[in-house]
Amino acid sequence: MKTIRKAVFPVAGLGTRFLPATKANPKEMLPIVDKPLIQFAAEEAVAAGIDVLIFIIGRNKSSIPDHFDKAFELEAKLEASSNHEMLKIVRNILPSHIDCIYIRQSEALGLGHAVLCAQSVVGDEPFAVLLADDLIDADESHCLSQMVNIYSQHHCSVLGIEQVPHETVNRYGIIDSSPIAENLSKVNAIVEKPAVEKAPSNLAVVGRYILTPRIFRLLEKTERGAGNEIQLTDAIAKLLQEETVLGYEFDGKRFDCGSKSGYLKATVEFALQHPELKQEFQEYLYDLVRKQG
Ligand code: UTP
Repeated sequence: MKTIRKAVFPVAGLGTRFLPATKANPKEMLPIVDKPLIQFAAEEAVAAGIDVLIFIIGRNKSSIPDHFDKAFELEAKLEASSNHEMLKIVRNILPSHIDCIYIRQSEALGLGHAVLCAQSVVGDEPFAVLLADDLIDADESHCLSQMVNIYSQHHCSVLGIEQVPHETVNRYGIIDSSPIAENLSKVNAIVEKPAVEKAPSNLAVVGRYILTPRIFRLLEKTERGAGNEIQLTDAIAKLLQEETVLGYEFDGKRFDCGSKSGYLKATVEFALQHPELKQEFQEYLYDLVRKQG
């Protein structure tokens, strides 16, 4: 059985919901307190045993490679001022055994197209896809680690799924499925952004996938779909006609940081967990809520 060694991070979206913040910077570089979203996702992948990180980058191409690269001038300054704490943080963004590969998506043709851009680097192996704007707080048992565990038992594609309020199904890929175990179901059908009255369930696919390499052949043949984009969901719909695809309801709390309200909720909750800030920030929030009555 092939293990999951490679993860793809599509970060080439236009991030229109976050303009003007995303005019010159990818949405995945937005920080939650002091750490960019992409670093949370990279750390989740590394914790799941992945050692090759493949970033699909777009027009604002330099900040993500810069973030994961060595910063000589900054390190020299921190060293000279004996700021050992920050030096350690800056030097340990990723463990030294991790390889980062950057691929340019020349045009934002959709998530499916972004994943297809990774084909030559992924090759003939199962791989993970993480959408960094879905930030998942799952303590020690990271979402992707849970999914890798499911993959190692079932050897097939696994989609991270979550129950969403029924009136919001038109924002997600929604599945029709048959339960096979607790939190695990076989996906029978999947549809991208269905109308509320036509959705087969309220089980939404969120930004975590483990996919077999068969998906690339199917993506090559996938035409533009919802939003005039090449949709990963449409290729998965074909994949599940050929192979078993499982949906896994992960343990953890997801924040949709591609939306302003999800991003703000994540910021507040992570600030309340932050060792340096939590006391002061909690007091501030109590005070604010009290004053607003
Ligand atoms: P979204 O659907 O959130 O689109 O993409 P977006 O462009 O990032 O944001 P909005 O809707 O305009 O505000 C889901 C994921 O797919 C990536 C995005 O970076 C995000 O991680 N993506 C999307 C690409 O890498 N390339 C694309 O062509 C489209």
